[in-house]
Amino acid sequence: MRDTLPRPLAAAPRHRANATLFLRRWLANPLQMGSVVPSSPVLCRRVAELVRREPEEYVLELGAGTGVLSRALLRHGVPPERLIVVEIVPSMAAWLRETLPGVRVVCGDAFDLARSLPPEARQRIGTVICGIPLVLLPIERQRHFLQSVQSVAEGRGFLLYSYCVTSPLPWRKLQLQAQREAWTPWNIPPASVWRYTPAG
Ligand SMILES: C[S@@+](CC[C@H](N)C(=O)[O-])C[C@H]1O[C@@H](n2cnc3c(N)ncnc32)[C@H](O)[C@@H]1O
Repeated sequence: MRDTLPRPLAAAPRHRANATLFLRRWLANPLQMGSVVPSSPVLCRRVAELVRREPEEYVLELGAGTGVLSRALLRHGVPPERLIVVEIVPSMAAWLRETLPGVRVVCGDAFDLARSLPPEARQRIGTVICGIPLVLLPIERQRHFLQSVQSVAEGRGFLLYSYCVTSPLPWRKLQLQAQREAWTPWNIPPASVWRYTPAG
């Protein structure tokens, strides 16, 4: 399936354009997307409420998709110039640039943050939020993800929203501390928000 921004999306209402773009990408690569529909407004709010950030720090969102969570973060008070979103799919990154004025959109790989993140943001990140379906990945890839996050936000860990009933990551094996900080039935499917931090 092609990866350009479908032309009718530009004219469609945003929520319909979001859903259409999301579904197209799910059809193209279900493992990369992890879900058929974007996160619900309630889930996005739950995640936004968990963000910790000093005034000069950034919030880093990984796997921003169509930007539903990014918009919730802005509504929750994160200044656009302090929000950095990373999205690997070029058509989605283009959509994010178009619909999130003032936000830094990086079209890149969340597993290679040392390279893709702007230098001024490294080690100045208050909260990392992960929307990538890590649960579907083998443990070596999960470790690789942790190293990538550590390389730009040492000791900070990350928030991960997930549809699993139990921890989506084998936190002991990954030497993490895990805390489920929120849950909502108002998402398809119901979702939890986990905070993972490096142990010790
Ligand atoms: C479950 S969707 C989440 C989208 C959105 N944050 C939401 O809540 O609806 C996962 C997103 O992660 C992106 N993604 C997957 N692997 C990635 C990677 N290695 N680096 C950056 N983004 C990635 C996908 O393209 C997709 O947009």
